[in-house]
Amino acid sequence: MMAKRPQILIIEDQLGPRKSLEMILSPFFDVFTVDLGEKALALLGERPIDVVTLDLRLPDLQGIDVLRQIKRLHGDVEVIIITGYGEFKTALDALHLGACSYLLKPFNMGDVLSAVNRAAGKKRQVDQLKEFLVKIGEVVGLKREISHGIKALEEEPALLEKVKQMFERTEQEIEEERRVNHFEFIRALIDTIEKRDPYANGHSSRVNYYSYLIAQRLRLTDLEKEELQIGAYLHDIGKLGVAPQIIQKKGAYTAEEMEAIKKHPEIGIQLVAPLNLSPSILALIRHHHEYYIGQGYPDGISGEDIPLLARIVSVADAFDAMVSDYPYEYRKVLSLEEAVAELKHCSGIQFDPKVVNALIETIEEEHDRILLKSVLLADF
Ligand SMILES: [Fe+2]
Repeated sequence: MMAKRPQILIIEDQLGPRKSLEMILSPFFDVFTVDLGEKALALLGERPIDVVTLDLRLPDLQGIDVLRQIKRLHGDVEVIIITGYGEFKTALDALHLGACSYLLKPFNMGDVLSAVNRAAGKKRQVDQLKEFLVKIGEVVGLKREISHGIKALEEEPALLEKVKQMFERTEQEIEEERRVNHFEFIRALIDTIEKRDPYANGHSSRVNYYSYLIAQRLRLTDLEKEELQIGAYLHDIGKLGVAPQIIQKKGAYTAEEMEAIKKHPEIGIQLVAPLNLSPSILALIRHHHEYYIGQGYPDGISGEDIPLLARIVSVADAFDAMVSDYPYEYRKVLSLEEAVAELKHCSGIQFDPKVVNALIETIEEEHDRILLKSVLLADF
């Protein structure tokens, strides 16, 4: 049986770009076109669309509002933003709202095809992973107590076996491909988990990107960078083992809730046990909430005793929480300048000063370009 072709929706009010996108894409995909935001939302309600290309300037609705609606109502649909030069701020907002990439007008055929291909591939992988994740959700969702949640996972050999199989299959392939597949698998896994929670959507990929910037500046080795990428994606996977009503609570936690949250690094280690990850990645997951002066969790270690990769993710994680629109974790979205000030304020206390400096220097040097690309990890 022939595989179903990915379904693409082009949202573009100008006839020229709309037709050229349609011409480029229709030999490879099933393409639908609309000229208005309202029509797009109606069509998305009727058809299982995989990928949307969205012009941010539409005559009826604000493109950014259309994106917000798509992500709210159809979280799995991948959205590629179409933007012009000089629209960095809007494009950045779009990426933070969960758009997967952007294309600059005028289009280049190769760029269009590769962006849509990549988005369709990601969507396909996410679809395949859904069943697996539903299973995880069932396992952890059925149990109220965290310890029970872990136990349930341990008692779920079929689930763990499934993860193992996914990895073993790829081990027969060449080394490079295996690494890519592992990373792609993990990325798709995390994207899917985060889509259950609109406010976490894209968080790990942005943490990954900020971590990568720091790693570049600190001249980490290729192997360290690779481990950092995987670990940055997985750092919060243990939150699956914490009750969602605690994770998504607005406002202050009770002491009991805080204790439950503090378990997520250790739960994370247990969840990824079947993946045979390197000790450095496991250490990153375990220690990403340690404080540079000690007094963090779970072990309260300090300074250079905290593995470097964990110190990096700690800064990247906090930075993303500061500049992103989460109703929980941080109360107010900080401007870039405020976030930098906050990082400096916590440098040497919560964060390793060397790591903070690396991120700040990079932000100051390459402000717009870095932020615009902040979630486009596919280019790495
Ligand atoms: Fe965390």
